[in-house]
Formats: sequence, structure tokens, C-alpha cells
Amino acid sequence: MSKFHAYLKGKNKHITPSILSADFNHLGKSVEDCISRGMQILHFDVMDGHFVPAISFGPPVLKSLNKTFDCFFDVHLMVTYPQNQVHQFISAGADHITFHVESDCDIPSLIQIIKDEDIGVGLVVKPNTDWKVLIPFLADLDLILIMTVEPGAGGQAMLEDCLRKVVELKEYMQENGLDVPVQIDGGVNVRTMEKAVACGADLFVAGSAVFGDSDGTVAGYDKLDQYLK
Ligand code: DX5
Ligand code: ZN
Repeated sequence: MSKFHAYLKGKNKHITPSILSADFNHLGKSVEDCISRGMQILHFDVMDGHFVPAISFGPPVLKSLNKTFDCFFDVHLMVTYPQNQVHQFISAGADHITFHVESDCDIPSLIQIIKDEDIGVGLVVKPNTDWKVLIPFLADLDLILIMTVEPGAGGQAMLEDCLRKVVELKEYMQENGLDVPVQIDGGVNVRTMEKAVACGADLFVAGSAVFGDSDGTVAGYDKLDQYLK
């Protein structure tokens, strides 16, 4: 069992800030601020300019953060060929890797490759992808990510219909003796957090709500974390 898997079994709920929306002139300070408020899991959005039009950042940024900060690094691969990149991110310090069911790879074998490295593994579905495509893989996953925006950018409005997928997925897992933590990603903020918690999600990715808060990162983090108390 990976360290990340064991940690998530602790069953608490987490805000997992996405650095995609951070000010890269002050990235270290932004991460430090989140950690000072109790953040344990940092969400690292990787975009290849092909699976999604945008390009974000890669292993060198993760490597420098990993050198400095003692938190879990939750890597979200929005890339067409995740099998070509997982080892670079594992070497750079990834504790967990989530890749898209819509990417061009052999899902079961890539799940096994990541697990063999004792790293947490997750699958993610885009808003228009039925969550039921995850069913064959659920027993092997440490985390499931339900996108609540179209992947490719921070600062979008939440597609609240996607929260229904969390409810249905949780019901299915309960009926089938499964208990994989579910993360949602996109448009999480003080206006959507109540609904997001109510749907049963366990981890909440937040980029612009944390790093774009006019009162600063600490305030942005606290405003969301108060919903998990
Ligand atoms: C979008 C990314 C999200 C995004 C979240 O492609 O996967 O993690 O950064 O940003 P906000 O919280 O601003 O929607
Ligand atoms: Zn993400």
C-alpha cells in the first residue's frame, strides 16, 4: 500500500490546492501559506498542449517543490500519453498520479506500472464521460477524480450537474463493498463548497479560490477549509 493510500485511509476530508492558479513569482510562499493552514496534499496540474490546448508545467517544478516541502504531491496528468510521463513525475517526487480514462493508453497496465512503484494511482473522467467507465478499475484505485469543469484551465464556473456523478459513484461503491476516496476538481469556491461537500466528495481541488482570493492565500484556504470542520 503506498504512503498516499495509507494516508487517505485516514478518511478525513481535504482541500487540495491546485498551483495552476498560483503566482509563480511567489510559488514557494503560496505553498508555505497553504501548509501553514494544514494543507497536506498539493494538486499539480500537468497539461501537454495536446490532450488540452494549454501547457502548464512539468517535473522540474515538482522536483524543486518536493525538495522544499513535506506534503503529498497529487499529480493530475491532462496528457494524451500518460505512459510516457509517469516515470518522470515519479522521479521528481509524485506521491500520487491521476490520469484520464480519455487518454491514449492501456489503462490496466498503466495502473499496475504506477502501483509497482508504490505510488498512489487514480483515474479521472471529464464532465461528458460517464462515471460507469470507471467500474472495471475501481478495486485497483487509491483515488477517483470527477472533473467539475472541462479540463484545461483554472477559474472556470463549476458544472454542478457533475456532482450527481459523485453521488451515483458513492452509491455504487457502497452497494459493492468498495470505498475509494473521491476528489472533485474545478470551480470549487465559497459559493459551491456547500454543494460539493453535500454530494459526498472527500477531496476538493481549488485553484483560483485559494490562490486568487483578494484577501490572500491563507484567507482563501481558510474560507474553504471551514466547510470541512
Ligand atoms: C483544470 C484543472 C483544475 C483547475 C482548478 O484543468 O484540472 O485543477 O486548476 O482550478 P479552479 O479551482 O480555479 O477551477
Ligand atoms: Zn486538476
